[in-house]
Amino acid sequence: MNSVVRISDPDEMRMLSARWRDEGLEVGFVPTMGALHEGHLSLVKRAIMLGDRVVVSIFVNPKQFGPGEDLDRYPRTLEEDLRLLGKAGAHCVFTPSEDDVYPEGHATTVHVSGLTEGLCGRYRPGHFDGVSTVVAILFGMVTPHFAVFGRKDAQQLAVIRRMTGDLRLGVRIEGSETVREPDGLAMSSRNRYLKEEERAQATAIHRALVEAAGMAARGETDAGRILEAARQTIEEAPLARIQYLELVDPLSLKPVGRISPNGLLAVAVYFGRTRLIDNMELEAPVPPRGQ
Ligand code: PAJ
Repeated sequence: MNSVVRISDPDEMRMLSARWRDEGLEVGFVPTMGALHEGHLSLVKRAIMLGDRVVVSIFVNPKQFGPGEDLDRYPRTLEEDLRLLGKAGAHCVFTPSEDDVYPEGHATTVHVSGLTEGLCGRYRPGHFDGVSTVVAILFGMVTPHFAVFGRKDAQQLAVIRRMTGDLRLGVRIEGSETVREPDGLAMSSRNRYLKEEERAQATAIHRALVEAAGMAARGETDAGRILEAARQTIEEAPLARIQYLELVDPLSLKPVGRISPNGLLAVAVYFGRTRLIDNMELEAPVPPRGQ
């Protein structure tokens, strides 16, 4: 087991990172809100593969939760998180306090326009401002060469890429594949809220995405038909309440009428009070040579 250093003081964090950089080491960063599962750990493993030192932050960011969302009941499992990160081989766990991240007088919000308007942004006003603001602050504290984000939160990944590029933060952004339970449900810290019956039915989400990917691979390009089939599959789960189901361009995140040559099928579904998101990239079949 690797000995994982825990740092809460941002100055100490910046100094450690600066020392590593001076030594010519490549510093990778994985921001999280804790309650870690295999999805988070896959990002840590990816960062270990890509770099020499890996910092994982754990900070439940109040600014990205709306009123009535689950900030108060968000799972906090620090001891277990530290154990898992040690085992995974992370070098440093950064756990800043809320006062250090947002000291009195903090008055800056980072807003990425366009990409934040649709999908989750439509239903969670201010959410992505909270995400991009905290990630910008954490990048300043950790000063990594690169940071790894999950594709499960595809809109978040797109927003962070845009922000990092626009502000010339000099951090390389790496996307990492979604890790799923054996029955296909995307791993999420929020899965633990699901009641037994909800958990059983939640597999409908992945089923719908896989079916849609199959339709696209067989040559269906019409968004309407793909969305209708996906909707039907999800609605076979009586406890599912779809918040949105959209086929968008993977880069602009704007809705598309056709897959040409690819599209991102993105979905948010409530099971009881628990909101789950997932997505899958759909690809049209490659035309045979000469066409
Ligand atoms: P959190 O939900 O803890 O997720 C941390 C990182 O883990 C994100 O990059 C997310 O996309 C990734 N992740 C979550 N589930 C995954 C899965 N099943 N497979 C692969 N990656 C997965 O996302 C946040 O925290 C916050 O918004 C944060 C970026 C830390 C800013 O507060």
